[in-house]
Amino acid sequence: MGSLWGSITLLFVAILLRTERNGAQQTKNNVPRLKLSYKEMLESNNLVTFAGLANSSGYHTFLLDEEKGRLVVGAKDHIFSFNLLNISKDYAQITWPPSPTRRDECKWAGKDLSRECSNFIKVLQPFNQTHLYVCGTGAFHPVCSYLEVGKKPEDSVFRLEPRLENGRGKSPYDPKLLTASMLIDGELYAGTSADFMGRDFAIFRTLGKHHPIRTEQHDSRWLNDPRFVGVHQIPESDNPEDDKIYLFFRENAMDGEHVGKATHARIGQLCKNDLGGHRSLVNKWTTFLKARLICSVPGSNGIDTHFDELQDVFLMSTKDPKSPIIYGVFTTSSNIFKGSAVCMYSMTDIRRVFLGPYAHRDGPNYQWVPFQGRVPYPRPGTCPSKTFGGFDTTKDFPDEVVTFARSHPAMFNPVSPINNRPIIVKTDVDYQFTQIVVDKVEAEDGQYDVMFIGTDIGTILKVVSIPRGSWHDLEEVLLEEMNVFREPTAITAMELSTKQQQLYLGSDIGVSQMPLHRCEVYGKACAECCLARDPYCAWDGTECSRYFPMAKRRTRRQDIRNGDPLTQCSDLQHYDELNGQTTLLYKTVYGVENSSTFLECSPKSQRALTYWQYQRSTDDRKQEIKSEERFISTDQGLLIRTLDKKDSGIYLCQAVEHGFMQTLLKVTLEVIDTDRLEDLLHRDEEAAAAAAAPAQDLPSTPNHKLWYRDFLSLVNHPTLNRVDEFCEQVWKRERKHRKQKAQLVQQAQLHQQQQSQQQQPQQQQQQQKLVANPHTHMNAQGLAAKWKHLQERQKGRNRRTHELERAPRSV
Ligand SMILES: *[C@@H]1O[C@H](CO)[C@@H](O)[C@H](O)[C@H]1NC(C)=O
Ligand SMILES: *[C@@H]1O[C@H](CO)[C@@H](O)[C@H](O)[C@H]1NC(C)=O
Ligand SMILES: *[C@@H]1O[C@H](CO)[C@@H](O)[C@H](O)[C@H]1NC(C)=O
Ligand SMILES: *[C@@H]1O[C@H](CO)[C@@H](O)[C@H](O)[C@H]1NC(C)=O
Repeated sequence: MGSLWGSITLLFVAILLRTERNGAQQTKNNVPRLKLSYKEMLESNNLVTFAGLANSSGYHTFLLDEEKGRLVVGAKDHIFSFNLLNISKDYAQITWPPSPTRRDECKWAGKDLSRECSNFIKVLQPFNQTHLYVCGTGAFHPVCSYLEVGKKPEDSVFRLEPRLENGRGKSPYDPKLLTASMLIDGELYAGTSADFMGRDFAIFRTLGKHHPIRTEQHDSRWLNDPRFVGVHQIPESDNPEDDKIYLFFRENAMDGEHVGKATHARIGQLCKNDLGGHRSLVNKWTTFLKARLICSVPGSNGIDTHFDELQDVFLMSTKDPKSPIIYGVFTTSSNIFKGSAVCMYSMTDIRRVFLGPYAHRDGPNYQWVPFQGRVPYPRPGTCPSKTFGGFDTTKDFPDEVVTFARSHPAMFNPVSPINNRPIIVKTDVDYQFTQIVVDKVEAEDGQYDVMFIGTDIGTILKVVSIPRGSWHDLEEVLLEEMNVFREPTAITAMELSTKQQQLYLGSDIGVSQMPLHRCEVYGKACAECCLARDPYCAWDGTECSRYFPMAKRRTRRQDIRNGDPLTQCSDLQHYDELNGQTTLLYKTVYGVENSSTFLECSPKSQRALTYWQYQRSTDDRKQEIKSEERFISTDQGLLIRTLDKKDSGIYLCQAVEHGFMQTLLKVTLEVIDTDRLEDLLHRDEEAAAAAAAPAQDLPSTPNHKLWYRDFLSLVNHPTLNRVDEFCEQVWKRERKHRKQKAQLVQQAQLHQQQQSQQQQPQQQQQQQKLVANPHTHMNAQGLAAKWKHLQERQKGRNRRTHELERAPRSV
């Protein structure tokens, strides 16, 4: 019965809030539910760090080897091999600096000795069963070598072969330049720059049995000052001859493609079996094509806001290996407008664009138009295979095909994201996205993609996209925001281990490791666990813990799609209360008439809205407190500007999230008029005097002290501005002690119960006395001074009672 009533009330509030607070609800959606500082991450054992070597930096090149349980990291002059279980435990390290001669040459060439004339590791790829292929900038003289890592985990080999190879076309000369590479079947595909000046950018294929091959040189239609972010192999059909290599990069828009200077995000394609042309495009790709990747949002003025600076891509595999989902992280090019977005692309859309019209320069203004003429056969971009047209090798392609390919490397149509818009946009923040990895998580009500997004200030955002009705209407839920480095630094590398359920992060200053989930931080009640909507977590009957799809179904409570604790937890509500697991907090606050007061209340979830109700006495009807002149509801609590005697009563702080309401706090406010206050001051002076005589016992001492502290805070801050400051201090103090608070709740309740049982008669007694003794008026400043004086005098005597009373509120 009780729980039924509870549900009805909750539903009513949900409806009320949906209609009244729609605006607020929307703005709260972009706020992370939980924010964890670096210190909190460390203290809660949710972060393991490798703080870097004093003589190294740039921990940017990652290679995850789940089978051997190692993470190999390339940095400045060093290569590390970390244990996936715990990166700070037993790591191996190889020092690989350039020779002193190379360093001198680099210095003489005018480069910065410490920042540029080192060997920055840029390529780390599996070569064969026992060796990795590794390349570095070698002080502006790229070099490569083989790194022995052994066959099995227990081999524990980590040794660099002394044999060096030329690294040109594999690693850039300049450590600042991005390189994307992938070693497939003994051949290294790399998008990089191949000269000292950093002007000759190209996509290369080196190593292996074939002659090295590259993109056309000095042709801005092919590549125009590109920065590469990823290389991936994706099959086109069931025939491996059709396999394609896709490159992801950003570059300057082609001449005439855009008014003024602009960056475009691109996807480029190549055939794996491309051997170059016979008469033209000799040792150049004959199957290279590129298309623009669009990631934009419509603006209010009809002009779209474009996110063009591609930063990272992640391929999420699906059941069909030919059709992974591509996640791209983008930022804006504008210096004024800082923004980031994540867009998703389907291979179907990408293939459609590569099969569409080629971009062609024509017309009176020599502009880019779709090519309308006859396209030679086999269509440029098609791989030589039995599937399409029976050519054995690109060397057999007709001259007109190669000639056409050479002059038409770009497609006319851009690739639009799935649903034609980003899945995440962040524009109102002082950071930008840098990296992304995505995990597919099996939950009770379906499969969810959980995104981990790295930023340029060393934070990780954990985001889940939840279909609202269909795949065309996704809701982004920002679950957590975590600081993973000791100072703000861009996250430049990210790997996710499904086997270990861990995430590994790289930056300039070190490497960090964190678990994918920390269900226990969501709270100690079913509703809190449910509201978190974290697909990794579920309520198991006693706590919020990791959800495993295999486990017994009936005992698990989880609702990612709706985050609805009413359906999931209503029968458990009673159970929770019995176990003292609700987070309800009671307190009494005293205020002075015509002064202002602040009732602190901030929910653990940053997404919850707070909502205040007022009750004259326990049995009275509850009324909602609307923000107006006198009452200001903030994220930290309720500010009452000028206290009226009739404001005395019970204030209930309610947290509402996703239609679910929880009472967090019950404050009894007592407004004391100035006359009574005056009387109290006298009484306290008497009390102080009386304290000298030990035998004397003061009947109202404990109660007295309870409001004494609150009152002091107020008289010390009589104006509104200072009340704001006060709130700020309180808020800081609150945050600092938040963690310990939960444990103290039970204690507090117990304490409160005991206190109210014992002290009710005393309180009445005291109040009667107060009313019976009206006194003269005194200004607030004078009162404050007097109180301070008293406080000093009584410090020693009061300390013990003080500490005790402080406990429920803010320890
Ligand atoms: C950097 O310092 C480590 C010890 O902290 C040492 O093993 C390594 O050889 C040094 N690297 C260089 C390039 O001197
Ligand atoms: C990782 O290893 C370090 C050093 O041995 C240890 O202090 C730390 O507790 C370990 N962390 C975890 C999460 O196992
Ligand atoms: C892997 O390649 C390295 C370098 O070429 C070679 O020394 C080693 O024998 C190869 N290992 C296997 C198992 O083929
Ligand atoms: C409180 O403010 C009201 C309105 O400004 C005033 O009438 C009243 O005298 C004040 N009370 C005291 C005790 O200062």
